[in-house]
Amino acid sequence: MALVNFQYSFFLLVFVAILVIPSKCYSESHKPRSRSALFVFGDSLFDPGNNQYINGSRPSPTNNWPYGETYFKHPTGRICDGRIVPDFIALFAKVPILPPYLQPGDHNFTDGSNFASGGAGVLDSTHPGTIYLNLQLRYFKNVDKWLRQKLGDVEAKKVLTRAVYLFSIGGNDYFSLSMENPNAPASYQKEYVEMVIGNLTNVLKEVYRMGGRKIAFQNAGPLGCVPGTKAMKPSLGGNCDELPSALARRHNRILSITLKRLESQLPGFKYSIFDYYNSLYDRVFNPSKYGFKEGKAACCGSGPYRGKNCGGNNGTADYELCSNPNEYVWFDGAHTTEGANWQLAKLLWEGSPKVTGPYNLKQLFKHVKEDNFDPSTFPEDI
Ligand SMILES: *[C@@H]1O[C@H](CO)[C@@H](O)[C@H](O)[C@H]1NC(C)=O
Ligand SMILES: *[C@@H]1O[C@H](CO)[C@@H](O)[C@H](O)[C@H]1NC(C)=O
Ligand SMILES: *[C@@H]1O[C@H](CO)[C@@H](O)[C@H](O)[C@H]1NC(C)=O
Repeated sequence: MALVNFQYSFFLLVFVAILVIPSKCYSESHKPRSRSALFVFGDSLFDPGNNQYINGSRPSPTNNWPYGETYFKHPTGRICDGRIVPDFIALFAKVPILPPYLQPGDHNFTDGSNFASGGAGVLDSTHPGTIYLNLQLRYFKNVDKWLRQKLGDVEAKKVLTRAVYLFSIGGNDYFSLSMENPNAPASYQKEYVEMVIGNLTNVLKEVYRMGGRKIAFQNAGPLGCVPGTKAMKPSLGGNCDELPSALARRHNRILSITLKRLESQLPGFKYSIFDYYNSLYDRVFNPSKYGFKEGKAACCGSGPYRGKNCGGNNGTADYELCSNPNEYVWFDGAHTTEGANWQLAKLLWEGSPKVTGPYNLKQLFKHVKEDNFDPSTFPEDI
């Protein structure tokens, strides 16, 4: 059930990249631009509403009230009461809030784009009906084409080089494995994580090959501790489910080794990893430390921990809704409130190296040193 319900799949990969071009610089290629664009790749945590535009997608309760109730005052496709992390990062970076890449109508991609999709995984097979990571990469290539048409090859590459690429992905791959194969032997778990990281690495290398240099990750969260996971497994007695959390921790260890290795292999490659796992875990278990009243149950939903059914299901609207989402860490069974998202985005933006490193996003955005940019130095074979 929840397996195929993207509402409860978490950690969608987000890849945020930032590309910004002040218009007066269009023809003055020697002048550094003042803004970096933001490209976002990811899962439901970063999806600004792409899923509602996927052809053949079924109506999702996440497009119903009370999603969007606080900030936007109507559902936008964000799985939250208000803004999600990429919205706040855009705010801090002084670029416009990025609309969904798939939103119909004209787009201007000079400030970036958001390809994230609820339910998306690194592996195509995790939820094939979503914009899985490889498809997000394909859409990013369309944006590259758009930029080259509008700006010319050299300026377009400068935009890609200056941009920040923000990712939140992998959670759904591990969520799927733990539901479909709860007794997976340790050797298979290891192999699976390597497969996820292997595919992710290929995407990062492709982004680098296209000019991307500044990569930022929100790592995989405490998957076993979300209200939806605990609600599905009453036998846990309210404890976190160990397998999905253990997979996330293994993923995070290998992700960190992999990015360090890429930095040493790829000239100019810089990265940032936000320790989302521990930042969120601490909020779940010590909510009052962060100004929340409730860390375990969701604001919106029904059943144990209000872990499911926010927004209604099968035509019913049988769920409870808290009066003040800001008092809660979780808005629904797998997604944090705007209040929590603001805190998480702050950490991603300017957290200390212990939480976000080796660079934080603010530092990545500040690296506007492409004056020495020389397209001939781009390796074609990586
Ligand atoms: C896109 O936006 C930039 C400023 O952010 C502007 O200079 C440019 O003309 C716009 N391009 C198109 C095609 O609308
Ligand atoms: C959805 O289908 C329409 C009509 O066939 C097509 O123009 C559009 O590109 C498709 N969108 C996606 C995201 O595949
Ligand atoms: C990518 O994932 C596929 C399964 O979807 C797997 O067969 C392949 O080995 C993975 N690639 C890498 C480089 O790990």
